[in-house]
Amino acid sequence: MNHSLSILVTAGPTREAIDPVRFISNPSSGKMGYAVARVAAERGHQVRLISGPVSLAAPEGLDPIHVTTADDMLDAVRKNLPWCDALVMAAAVCDWRPSTVAEHKLKKSRMSGTLELERTPDVLLEIAALKEGRVYVGFAAETRGLESEARRKLAEKRLDMIVANEVGRDDSGFGSDSNKAMMVTSDSSEDLPLMDKRELAVRIITWVEQQTGSRCLTND
Ligand code: CTP
Repeated sequence: MNHSLSILVTAGPTREAIDPVRFISNPSSGKMGYAVARVAAERGHQVRLISGPVSLAAPEGLDPIHVTTADDMLDAVRKNLPWCDALVMAAAVCDWRPSTVAEHKLKKSRMSGTLELERTPDVLLEIAALKEGRVYVGFAAETRGLESEARRKLAEKRLDMIVANEVGRDDSGFGSDSNKAMMVTSDSSEDLPLMDKRELAVRIITWVEQQTGSRCLTND
């Protein structure tokens, strides 16, 4: 029997303000998460896309939920979690934010050169206890120790699968159209060749479908 899934996808970076004109962030383009959302929707699943600030067009038929900070991302994920069967957390959530946000633009003549930071919430850790029967897929952005770091995050964040991708290369990771990735579960790891982000998205959604017994609707 066919059935479509409710899939929650996060994408893009978050931004943490220093003052009204400056922020801390990372180079995430959102391309990977948007590709996952697009592929899932094309295969007939219900999709909600939570997006940090990116300059991408929304996938057809989807109206992204826009967020800016890690706190906003956590709120949006918490709100939409009860609705979903599966979560694909492709967002590059900023891990640090300034301890205080200046109300007015900081003047360089009066800045000390040191910024005091505090940790932002880890969205996946915050929602680990709310997992119930849901499938959780995370990403690990690494420049070294790809598989060991991925396995640590898989266990700590109670994920069913983690897509470990090499960042810091021109042809993989932030901003590029392709990814060199590994799909890692507690008892397997598949080292994938360099591939287009869309093709990687197909692999991810196919894996989610297999976990839930759902079938690809477009192949009927
Ligand atoms: N993540 C999250 N909340 C954060 C940071 C990351 O939910 N504050 C999620 C990401 O969306 C991703 C996974 O956790 O699915 C791993 O993110 P990554 O940046 O690779 O790792 P970190 O948890 O930030 O750990 P580290 O800094 O040790 O690499």
